[in-house]
Amino acid sequence: MDNTEMKQIQWFPGHMAKTRRLIAANISLVDAVVEIVDARAPLSSRNPEMDHMTKGKPRLVLLNKSDLADDKTTQKWINYFRRNGSEALAVDCKSGKGLKSILPALKNTVLKELMSKRAQNGMSGAAIRLMIVGIPNVGKSSLINKLAGSKRAKVEDRPGVTRTKQWVKLDNNTELLDMPGVLWPKFEDQEVAVRLAFTGAISDDILDIETLAMKLLYYLAENYPNSLTERYKLVLSGDETGLELLENVGRKRGMMISGGKINTERAAITVLDEFRSGKLGRITLEAPEQREK
Ligand code: G4P
Repeated sequence: MDNTEMKQIQWFPGHMAKTRRLIAANISLVDAVVEIVDARAPLSSRNPEMDHMTKGKPRLVLLNKSDLADDKTTQKWINYFRRNGSEALAVDCKSGKGLKSILPALKNTVLKELMSKRAQNGMSGAAIRLMIVGIPNVGKSSLINKLAGSKRAKVEDRPGVTRTKQWVKLDNNTELLDMPGVLWPKFEDQEVAVRLAFTGAISDDILDIETLAMKLLYYLAENYPNSLTERYKLVLSGDETGLELLENVGRKRGMMISGGKINTERAAITVLDEFRSGKLGRITLEAPEQREK
């Protein structure tokens, strides 16, 4: 991608520093870190600084929104994280699928060593404490709500009401720090930002919406051609440009403007909305083999 195409991505250094302090202040209180990533883009949706900030803590990676991702690639990502030393699970915080496996995975795998040490010392009943971390929009609040449910204390969200540290009991000996560690993604390359814009995790005005949709359509034509033939009844030759794909979607949907022209802006909004809501099928935007090259 041409560097000049993309608008400067807004960073929030103040916010970042605050989060760093918050995580640093609380990390010593927990036994394990639960890191949520987006199953559709598991590396693009994590901040590599998290590794450093949570260093030394056992980690469980949750590939959330797995209902929207391609199952085969999700399994490859699970294997990838396991190869790299973290237990990983696919979950869907919307329906709750996979959530029942979290506590057993923590106790039997991630914290196996700690649990057996505690058993030896007659401390099996001691609480396991957890912290949830992830970039915005990845599903941290949804996960905390699902896990803690009605046990989650309601804290008023208005000025003057201080939000104190809340521990929520998940079962007899597991407690969750009800204060997710939020870190912005790190845009190490522009493709990372583009994937996050596809999923809606960051504002899609990093590029103009048509360029963004063209890039998505191009990726889909290459990797998930059936999603386009089924949803938009496109007949693909295999060498269409992104613009041709976008125009074809607009034509198929009757999105015309005066002079017989296609309303590519409307077509772009439709493609992005339909991708994000899963109407184009279950699609993953990066695979471990591309990132391990
Ligand atoms: P955050 O705290 O990390 O910022 O994320 P949050 O839980 O607010 O979730 C962000 C959006 O992602 C929400 O959608 C939420 O419903 C959706 N989401 C979370 N987990 C999943 C999942 O496993 N699958 C799917 N398909 N979506 C998930 P929203 O549009 O902001 O709100 P709403 O749809 O809940 O109204």
